Amino acid sequence: MAILLPGGAGFIGSHTAVELLNAGKEIVIIDNFSNSKPQVLEAIKKITGKDFKFYEMDYMDREKLEKVFEENEIEAVMNFAGYKAVGESVQKPIEYYTNNISGALVVLDTMRKYNCKTFIFSSSATVYGEPERIPITEDCKTGGTTNPYGTSKLFIEQILKDIYKSDNTWNICILRYFNPVGAHESGLIGEEPQGIPNNLMPYVARVAAGTLKELSVFGNDYDTPDGTGVRDYIHVVDLAKGHVKALEKIEKEKEGLYIYNLGTGKGYSVLDMVKAFEKATGKKVPYKIAPRRAGDIATCYADPKKAFEELGWKAEKTLEDMCLDSWNYINH
Ligand code: UFG
Repeated sequence: MAILLPGGAGFIGSHTAVELLNAGKEIVIIDNFSNSKPQVLEAIKKITGKDFKFYEMDYMDREKLEKVFEENEIEAVMNFAGYKAVGESVQKPIEYYTNNISGALVVLDTMRKYNCKTFIFSSSATVYGEPERIPITEDCKTGGTTNPYGTSKLFIEQILKDIYKSDNTWNICILRYFNPVGAHESGLIGEEPQGIPNNLMPYVARVAAGTLKELSVFGNDYDTPDGTGVRDYIHVVDLAKGHVKALEKIEKEKEGLYIYNLGTGKGYSVLDMVKAFEKATGKKVPYKIAPRRAGDIATCYADPKKAFEELGWKAEKTLEDMCLDSWNYINH
């Protein structure tokens, strides 16, 4: 019995692959390397000392996906495949909706065909739109997403709810990630944005390394303690461990539809992150204040209590770990 990981060579997928292998699970990865590299697979093997099956393919390729289910006994699927660049999604809505939504549907339909009904979905705090309240609990209203990437997550959540309604023998877990950062402490796997990074942490790391000149802080007039945006940054290894806990929980319960926030419960501003990075690494991070970025909200952090109470999971790594591991990865 194995767990299938579409997108398992990507940032969050690769860290989850490591934690699943460390927990003694068998895995099968499929990936088309559209935003990852083959070396990641060797790195996962090196970190864990364990082997796994890999198929280079698009997760939307139904024929090939069926072959994967024929050749392996898949007990559950954790879907890490899909496009994730917020800005790009505004330019390429058709590509984003096709890849994210049609891709998820191909996976779900194939699962149904092979009677595999345990599915863990990578969702995002972005589904809360402008949050109803802070800290955000899972029962806060969703909707009001401001870009096709976020809307694709929202739609897939709705699709999963409808699937469960139609057939309650499905066992579905929606994990709403806050802001994943950091890298594996080995420095062998991490986040590899192509081109100029959109997200704060990879940008800060490249400014500290001297490959980018300075950080633009997008707005300092938000209603936050220092005026800059506040987010819930979570170490990717903590996030990966949350998937293992979620799998253990839903496999025990057998059927249901569960939703959990995966965040730390702490909010840090852009300037907090700059200071923490400088302190952890001893490097300067020059910055300038720039206009607000369209679609950004002031504050977003989780109430992670439900995941703690029901999964026995909580984030353990510190902000210093997040900064040091990001830095270690880009200098490895
Ligand atoms: N920021 C800057 N300068 C930059 C990049 C970011 O000031 O160069 C600021 C943003 O304005 C924001 C904060 O840093 O206040 C975090 O921005 P990120 O782009 O790192 O992350 P977001 O919170 O915008 O988005 C992330 C993920 C999305 C996900 C969302 C969920 O990238 O995939 O969290 O809330 F949908």
